[in-house]
This record gives sequence, structure tokens and C-alpha cells, in this order.
Amino acid sequence: MKIEDYLESLPQNLVTGDDVQLSDQAFREIFNFADLGKNDIFYHLGCGDGKGVKIAIEEFNVKKGIGIDNNSQKIDQAKKSSGEFFCEDIKNSEFSDATVILFWFTDEEIINQMIEKFEKLKPGTRIITIWGPLPDCLPEQVNFPYIINTIPFKKTSSMQEQLLAVFGVKCVDFVTAWEYAERYTKAIGDPGVKNDRFLTIIQTLVIWINAKNLGVACREEIPESIKTYLNIMKMHFDIDFEHLLK
Ligand SMILES: C[S@@+](CC[C@H](N)C(=O)[O-])C[C@H]1O[C@@H](n2cnc3c(N)ncnc32)[C@H](O)[C@@H]1O
Repeated sequence: MKIEDYLESLPQNLVTGDDVQLSDQAFREIFNFADLGKNDIFYHLGCGDGKGVKIAIEEFNVKKGIGIDNNSQKIDQAKKSSGEFFCEDIKNSEFSDATVILFWFTDEEIINQMIEKFEKLKPGTRIITIWGPLPDCLPEQVNFPYIINTIPFKKTSSMQEQLLAVFGVKCVDFVTAWEYAERYTKAIGDPGVKNDRFLTIIQTLVIWINAKNLGVACREEIPESIKTYLNIMKMHFDIDFEHLLK
């Protein structure tokens, strides 16, 4: 079965990220990294149950903590804790007083519409993204998978420049793909999870194949370790990646 069909067979609320909630530990790491503090007005776009806003207020003493989500059940839940919460589509939201925004979305349509709104924010506003920077932007600071993009955005001149800023390398080999796949899995996963290797292998293969297709893999030929994992996936799990290689 193709990897796309395998992903299709999983619960879609998790695959789309709609019902993925960051752990308290992940929020703390993100807020420490962003140096969140008493002068900040913090917005969590897609705030889910509001845990991030609660931690920002109670542990990082932000001046104001606001959460926005278009799921009314989640907002009802969030309203039970500290913070201001609004049930609306973030594309229509007003957040011009923000100094720090947490924005973890992978949907390109949302990202492209939001980037236009972000560009109008006050200089110095930090937009925290997870896994990748905003498209065509050079991040201000990276603690992978957490990324700070600051207003006004600095635009990238090449994929290599962005790669260097995010991964600290000029090209992607097996070791880089594995290291960053593992960091992502560990950062956003449940801290109690023991066997997350399966996910790391899938992520590693996807990172390396994307790098190869974008022309930023270190070598043209497929590294032995990638070949081994492609075979393991096919032989033992009937999951096929090779059609993705251009
Ligand atoms: C981590 S975010 C990202 C999910 C999103 N499907 C994506 O990856 O592009 C998940 C949270 O955002 C909320 N959400 C998704 N789309 C939204 C929108 N357009 N406006 C407000 N909240 C949204 C969901 O209810 C959920 O609590």
C-alpha cells in the first residue's frame, strides 16, 4: 500500500492535527524559547482546550492571554480556565495588539491567508511556528522543531538559505533527516510514549525524499540507510514510499 493510503487509514482528526494537543512540557519549552514574559500579549491561534493560554498566564505571567479556536466545544472547555477565549475562524480574527503568537498549522491555504495578516502586525511581534518557518521566510531563531519568525519577515533568497537557518546544514543526508524527525516526534508526542520509532522512520523517509525532490539532498543516489528503511517498510509493514521519489 502507498504511504498516502496508509495515512488515509488513520484517524483523520489526528492526521490533520485538529485533535492534536501539545503537552504541558511542550508549551513550557516553547514559551521558554520565545522568552515569554510579563510584557507580552500572547495569542494562541487554534488554542484547543486552552491549556497553552493557561500556562502562559499562570507560569509565564503574560499581561494578557487570548485563545482562538473555531471548535465551540473546545472553547467551552477552555473558558473554564484562565484567559480570554473566542470561538471564531482565525482568518477573521483581530489580534493586532499581539506581541507573541503561537501558530501551529500545516494547511497551506490557512498559512497563506494568515501570512498576509501577520505582515501587518507591529515590528518585533514573534510568530512561533512548529516544524517549519512561514513560507519563504527566514526564521529569527530556531530550536527545532520550534521556530520564531519576527515581524517584519525576512524573505529567503533560496531553499539552501532556509535549510541552513532551520536545520543548520547545507544539504540533507540520512543522519540529519533522522535527527530532525526524532526531535519532532519527541517534542510534540506524549512524553510517556516509549515506542515512537515507527513514526520516526516514516518521518525520516519523508524528510529525505522531500529533500531529494527539492534538490537539497546531499547526494543524488539513495543512501544505504534510507534504502534499508524503505525495504523494512515495504517488507514488514507493506508501506511503499518509492513512488514518491522523482
Ligand atoms: C494545531 S491546530 C492545526 C490544525 C489544522 N488542521 C492544520 O494543521 O492546518 C488545531 C486546532 O486549531 C483549530 N482550528 C483549525 N482550523 C481553524 C480555523 N480556521 N480557525 C480557528 N481554529 C481552527 C482546531 O479546532 C484545533 O483545536
